[in-house]
Amino acid sequence: MKTYEQIKEYVKNILSEKRFYHSECVSERCVELAKIYGVDTEKAKLIGIAHDVAKEMPAEKQIEYAKENGIELDEVELKNAKLLHAKIGAKICEKEFGFSKDMVEAVKNHTTGMSGMDMLSKVLFIGDATGIDRTYDEAKYLYEIATEDIDKAIFECINNTIREVIDRGTPLHINTVMTRNEYLLK
Ligand SMILES: [Fe+2]
Ligand SMILES: [Fe+2]
Repeated sequence: MKTYEQIKEYVKNILSEKRFYHSECVSERCVELAKIYGVDTEKAKLIGIAHDVAKEMPAEKQIEYAKENGIELDEVELKNAKLLHAKIGAKICEKEFGFSKDMVEAVKNHTTGMSGMDMLSKVLFIGDATGIDRTYDEAKYLYEIATEDIDKAIFECINNTIREVIDRGTPLHINTVMTRNEYLLK
């Protein structure tokens, strides 16, 4: 597996300054959450820095990459370019960085959520939403909840996402709905 420094260099070369800073902030948050929830802090650090590796790849390139690598994309993902980078990024993390299965899964799940997420996936999901680059009050509030009850934070975060998707008028991904139901029914 590639080291943190190697991955950092890789993403620094392909991401904008803003997105790279976001990745560093997410990595830090993931480590903090990993400590609280007893998951591997090294894995958390690596998935944080790597999670948006495909975010700035043009949509056509991402679709092409998916075809070349046998990644199935559903209709909603194909119509919402924002969603593509999770699956594409996960594949890059597997192929280029040598991530373990749970780390690849976490990157894959970071945008829509997924039912049955393990703690590493949960850490990245909330780390992404609450890095210190997120300046809005909601992020601070979510992080506070997450330090006490990460499942509750995910539920709140998903509710916000769903409201945003409705306001934007874009299709809602089925995994987001399934994740919400899982935490609602807990
Ligand atoms: Fe992302
Ligand atoms: Fe992100």
